Amino acid sequence: MSSSFYRDMKGSTHRLAPHEIVVPAVPDDERIWVPQAPDVWFRPLMLNTLAGQWCNLLRVRKSGVLSRHLHPNPVHGFVLKGRWHYLEHDWVATEGSYVMEPPGEIHTLTVPEDVPEMITFFNITGCMVYLDENDRHIGFEDVFTKIDMCRAHYEKVGLGSDYVDQFVR
Ligand SMILES: [Fe+2]
Repeated sequence: MSSSFYRDMKGSTHRLAPHEIVVPAVPDDERIWVPQAPDVWFRPLMLNTLAGQWCNLLRVRKSGVLSRHLHPNPVHGFVLKGRWHYLEHDWVATEGSYVMEPPGEIHTLTVPEDVPEMITFFNITGCMVYLDENDRHIGFEDVFTKIDMCRAHYEKVGLGSDYVDQFVR
């Protein structure tokens, strides 16, 4: 029996958190960052195919508007580095900030010019719906498109397409 299980007093076995659940969030290996757009990457942490949810780090090394979007479910964010804001609000998410984004709101993620790098943890359920300035749908992402992007990238950089499997639940 692997260490991922324990046996209770009645002899039944139960699954424990496998060791790979604890990972260094900011990886040493640059190849783990998956390019999403020029100067924008995500680092998968947990890709939950049962609940349609994913946790990742978003890393941005450019300023200006990143995306205008909505999500039908809440999103939770925690800023590890740098800062960002939504054009629709006057608050700024700074290093150490927790942000709860309510479902249904349209907002425009923007990084200030004097921030060379922003890294934020996001826990997203459902999907991201991308919109243009007239609120027309121009694309979407969900846990399955994220997995596809990871597979293609990890294959290309030599980690192998199955490298992503450790993050998939
Ligand atoms: Fe959002």
